[in-house]
Amino acid sequence: MTVPNITLNDGKTIPQLGFGVFQIEPENTKEATLTALEVGYRHIDTAEMYGNEKEVGEAIAESGIPREEIFVTSKLNNGFHEPDAALENGKKSADLLGGYTDLFLIHWPIATVIDFVPTWKSMEELYRGGIARSIGVSNFQAHHLNRLAAETTITPAVNQIEVHPYLTQDELRAYGREHGIATEAWSPIAQGLVLDDETITRIAGAVGKSPAQVVLRWHIQRGDIVFPKSVTKARVQENFDIFDFELSDGDMTDISSLDKSHRTGPDPDTFDYVPA
Ligand SMILES: NC(=O)c1ccc[n+]([C@@H]2O[C@H](COP(=O)([O-])OP(=O)(O)OC[C@H]3O[C@@H](n4cnc5c(N)ncnc54)[C@H](OP(=O)(O)O)[C@@H]3O)[C@@H](O)[C@H]2O)c1
Repeated sequence: MTVPNITLNDGKTIPQLGFGVFQIEPENTKEATLTALEVGYRHIDTAEMYGNEKEVGEAIAESGIPREEIFVTSKLNNGFHEPDAALENGKKSADLLGGYTDLFLIHWPIATVIDFVPTWKSMEELYRGGIARSIGVSNFQAHHLNRLAAETTITPAVNQIEVHPYLTQDELRAYGREHGIATEAWSPIAQGLVLDDETITRIAGAVGKSPAQVVLRWHIQRGDIVFPKSVTKARVQENFDIFDFELSDGDMTDISSLDKSHRTGPDPDTFDYVPA
């Protein structure tokens, strides 16, 4: 069972399947991350906002797996967009995660609160200093990305956005492809919402896989990067076992046609939450 790698626009590679730790309590994060590493995951997606970077770092250190064999992403929290705070917090995340982050993202554009262009210039500095080995953004719309293209030097390696069968994001994914920005799909199973969908359960029955496996496989065949979250060991394993079957073109089209522009999370154009 080999997880394919995706090559980013800076030449680095990222495993296409990872493990997400959003909403895992800090006290459960070390165990959950160790379970994922035992199953075979080598890509972990965390964030300062999740409050569990330290525990992810501890799990990696305890796992006995060399740090360089694990790809770790973290994200700049919304309260740290001032350029100096961005630098400081990029270094903090790196320290907690074994000395560097493989990928560091601006978590949200929060463009109604503060201009993200100076923040991105700090991200570029973190990249040049090797503190973040790749840099990218999350929840950026095309108009945000256009500003970075016009006013900064480095093209983000990834844009991490909400994508699942009820929100297929084909336009923004196409923008990414045209500009060399890989798409990472967050909440890939829409936090469970799509698993009872008739089309998905029908296909799952036909291919002999679970609904979650079918949806994750759909993402993989579309070429996006995914990192489902689970604190349930059997599901962590199940979500990893998606490389021994293929969906037909018809199945792919049927799943994509479930799109109804349904967000489970905030709208990036209006989200302006900044922690106190
Ligand atoms: N950049 C952003 O703004 C952003 C926003 C949201 C998420 N993310 C990232 O994306 C990752 C994944 O998104 P997510 O955690 O929101 O949602 P998700 O992975 O789509 O769904 C997680 C939920 O589905 C359940 N689940 C997992 N595998 C399952 C399976 N095989 N069968 C049935 N249920 C299953 C989990 O339950 P149990 O845990 O109880 O098993 C949990 O309730 C996050 O952890 C985070 O790393 C990023």
